Amino acid sequence: MSPSKDDGGPQLTFKRLHPTFGVEVEGMDWTQSPVPKTLLDEIITAINREGVLVFRNANLNNEEHVAFSQQLAGHQDLYDVKAHIKAGRAMRFPEQPEIFDVSNLDNNGNIVTEADPMRKEGNKGNFLWHADMAYNPHRALYSLLRAVELPPKSSGGETQYLDSRTACEELPEDLKKEINGLITHNSLMHNRKLGSPEYFKSVEPLDAPMAKYQLVTPHEGSGRDNLYLTTYAHHLDGRSWEDSKPLFDRLWNHLTQEKYVLTVYWENNGDLVMWDNTATLHRATDTGSYGGKYVRDMRRTTTKDTSRYRFGENEDHSWEAGISKVKTEGEH
Ligand code: OGA
Ligand code: MN
Repeated sequence: MSPSKDDGGPQLTFKRLHPTFGVEVEGMDWTQSPVPKTLLDEIITAINREGVLVFRNANLNNEEHVAFSQQLAGHQDLYDVKAHIKAGRAMRFPEQPEIFDVSNLDNNGNIVTEADPMRKEGNKGNFLWHADMAYNPHRALYSLLRAVELPPKSSGGETQYLDSRTACEELPEDLKKEINGLITHNSLMHNRKLGSPEYFKSVEPLDAPMAKYQLVTPHEGSGRDNLYLTTYAHHLDGRSWEDSKPLFDRLWNHLTQEKYVLTVYWENNGDLVMWDNTATLHRATDTGSYGGKYVRDMRRTTTKDTSRYRFGENEDHSWEAGISKVKTEGEH
């Protein structure tokens, strides 16, 4: 009997990972490329509802990873899959500029150490809650993160997700009223500075353009409100950083409650996790012992948002944020 059902009914089944969001997807047939339209429809329906989809043992290679991402982007009537950050460094896969290298490896395949502080210190921003590319004036929709080589089990490297739609709906009424209509200004370097204040102390986030988004932005795929607050949020429109911080802190206190958090444990090389950046937050974790010792080779693609909210409050959406140079001793 063929392993894939073709009776015209739904092919995918789901295993719930958290009471309000996130599922493991079963029944996915990766042998067909491109993935058939009916299956793609099922995936889109599921991600709109769940925000996070975990595909165990997808075992895609770079080409298949990019092709599937392009299909998702195309499905959303979008132009392309973009290479994300202007990272200021060569990627390990010049053949696939769409693949963002999230590994702890340098171009020679060696584990990144303190000898490369830009990488090492910059990566600390990834341990803070974020939505990919919220610092750009055209924000991201889906991210697809693939495990190529995982560190040994129990040595860490989990990825955490946060249900920012449910958190938004459960905001205390007074806070909900208070944030109605507020706009954030978002900066890549603000997050990097939060992650490693000492290393990035010479960088002033206000020196670079910031991307503006409504703090509460509806999620088009589900019609639910989403609290689009990330650690890229530097200040609120019309307020200084100092005047914005107390409100941000109150929102973070609410958002980061344990009940909204899902920890995804990577099980096997070949696992793939897809998430919706306009409906969830995520972060890498640094609680494990693998850092500096074991390879963690993770690769990501990201599609651009296609919803009516894709440009937020940004009139000019032609630019992309980059990493600012850090001044070293003696430089001014
Ligand atoms: C990412 C990311 C988390 C991780 O790829 O966008 O945040 O656990 N990754 O590597
Ligand atoms: Mn990320």
